[in-house]
Amino acid sequence: MTRTVYVNGQYLPEGEAKVSVFDRGFLMADGVYEVVSVLDGRLMDFAGHMARLTRSLEALQITNPLADEQYLEAHRQLVERNAITDGMVYLQVTRGNPGDRDFAFPPADTVPTVVMFTQSKPGLADAPAAKTGWKIVSVEDLRWGRRDIKTVQLLYPSMAKMEAKARGVDDAWLVEDGKVTEGTSNNAYIVKDGVIVTRALSHEILHGITRAAVLRLAAEAQMRVEERSFTIAEAQQADEAFVTSASAFVMPVVEIDGEPVGEGRVGEVATRMREIYLEESRKTAI
Ligand code: PDD
Repeated sequence: MTRTVYVNGQYLPEGEAKVSVFDRGFLMADGVYEVVSVLDGRLMDFAGHMARLTRSLEALQITNPLADEQYLEAHRQLVERNAITDGMVYLQVTRGNPGDRDFAFPPADTVPTVVMFTQSKPGLADAPAAKTGWKIVSVEDLRWGRRDIKTVQLLYPSMAKMEAKARGVDDAWLVEDGKVTEGTSNNAYIVKDGVIVTRALSHEILHGITRAAVLRLAAEAQMRVEERSFTIAEAQQADEAFVTSASAFVMPVVEIDGEPVGEGRVGEVATRMREIYLEESRKTAI
């Protein structure tokens, strides 16, 4: 089946979908994105992703070309046209095509580019890795200083992921000034004596939509949460570790830089939070 993708209001076979070579997203990584998970054909945490898209666009002074209802309609169309049961919808909005290359932003009336496509991942919620956990390594965080804006400049996270693969593990945690910021494409947590610890929100990390849901659900389940930074040494001595993202949900981490976390097995808190998160967000999926 040929995938149908969305480009600027049109639904096209992927081979016919085109964006200009002058698009600012292509030339300058001048664009933002969102990834919404689909389970049972329904969209998870959709309102949160739309709220963050709005914030990212405002931070870059890109006028949001569509209303949330239009994004919702396009997400639903793509899920239906591509018969997605489980998977993701990727959405990217760039500053558009000014017709030439210039460091200065083009006039404000330049029409933003909107691209959306689906990724089918049957059994997404039953990833075998959730039972065995991820092994990770730490690398220095060399990204820019506004990681709260979900921009498409993903070269460094991509390089960090490749370093992790080269070292035979699943992902990397990024470290700045001796403290973990986040994973290459997820937020990072440790658990010690029943307390869930994760870095506080700032410009240094992406404000994960899954993070917000997990922290809310943890509080509702009477679990203690501390929003503060931690080191790799502290993480290695923790009882558990895990990451969260729209595509991995809650994923246990069992080894950091070759050292087992706790007993080196998937922990109870991570397992429970994954169950609670999946159950609750399936309920609110639209
Ligand atoms: N990544 N931190 C970073 C750097 C991320 O790229 C992501 C998401 C997260 C988690 O955010 P959320 O819970 O809203 O998905 C944290 C997406 C999934 C991606 O790039 O594919």
